[in-house]
Amino acid sequence: MSPQRYRFFLVMLGLSVFSKGYSDFTNTEQLLAEMSVIKNDPILLEQALVSGKERALLCGNCHGKNGNSVRDYIPNLASQNAAYLFNQFELFATGERKDYVMGRLAKGFSREDKINIALYFSVMPVEPRELSVTVTAQGEKIYQSYCFTCHQKDGHGDGSYPRIAGQPYQFLIKTLNGFSGGDKKRANSPMTVIVANMNEQQLKEVAAYVASMP
Ligand code: HEC
Ligand code: HEC
Repeated sequence: MSPQRYRFFLVMLGLSVFSKGYSDFTNTEQLLAEMSVIKNDPILLEQALVSGKERALLCGNCHGKNGNSVRDYIPNLASQNAAYLFNQFELFATGERKDYVMGRLAKGFSREDKINIALYFSVMPVEPRELSVTVTAQGEKIYQSYCFTCHQKDGHGDGSYPRIAGQPYQFLIKTLNGFSGGDKKRANSPMTVIVANMNEQQLKEVAAYVASMP
């Protein structure tokens, strides 16, 4: 990217984050506060994790019993940030994020269920998976120049910024291509602006690097 392109990119980034709205921000703050009350009380946490595990039984068919997905095109939920899990579940329920199965599933849970399920998966460890693609220096460079600003240096994200480290390669490339190809499934994602100036090769390389991150 030329310096001009890069500056333009940063301005667009600022605009998109800002226009994503103050209400999203306050909702997430409130959710994080609610979750931290549970996390700071060993009894509440134990109850939440037991109930979350019970409610998440069905999810294991696709996302794996402990949140390590059983198919390369399905995301891991293990070690995902709880607020992100909750928010995405909400987006599936309202139809803002489109996926047939997830849309139907997401409508069936109470707010409390969703918090418990999110907390449950967030404490499960990610199991390393075998990589079928080669990691390049260019992939790392793209990640550590742009992506880290929201997803952190280690790819673990924070709050409503998802952990992407260790996600299956197929899921990552499918998702990035979707953001870049104007796919309507996640039309309001800030990611559409981020990948707008990236070509297919760059997306592949950054996806391989992200998949390899522990
Ligand atoms: C039949 C398979 C299937 C089942 C069962 C299923 N999911 Fe999913 N889930 C998917 C697929 C496929 C995606 C990816 C959709 C996409 O590409 O946007 C997904 C995406 C998600 C995401 C978004 C993750 C991310 O990283 O963006 C969350 C959160 C989620 N599922 C939670 C659940 C929970 C909780 C359950 C159980 C109540 C569940 N899923 C059950 C197939 C399933
Ligand atoms: C301005 C902040 C920001 C930057 C920079 C950013 N992302 Fe994201 N990214 C997000 C947010 C917020 C989400 C989740 C919200 C959504 O997509 O609905 C996300 C989602 C994703 C997802 C989907 C995760 C999932 O589990 O569904 C992938 C993959 C991803 N980003 C990869 C990248 C890559 C690769 C880069 C660098 C080229 C990057 N991101 C740069 C904010 C950012």
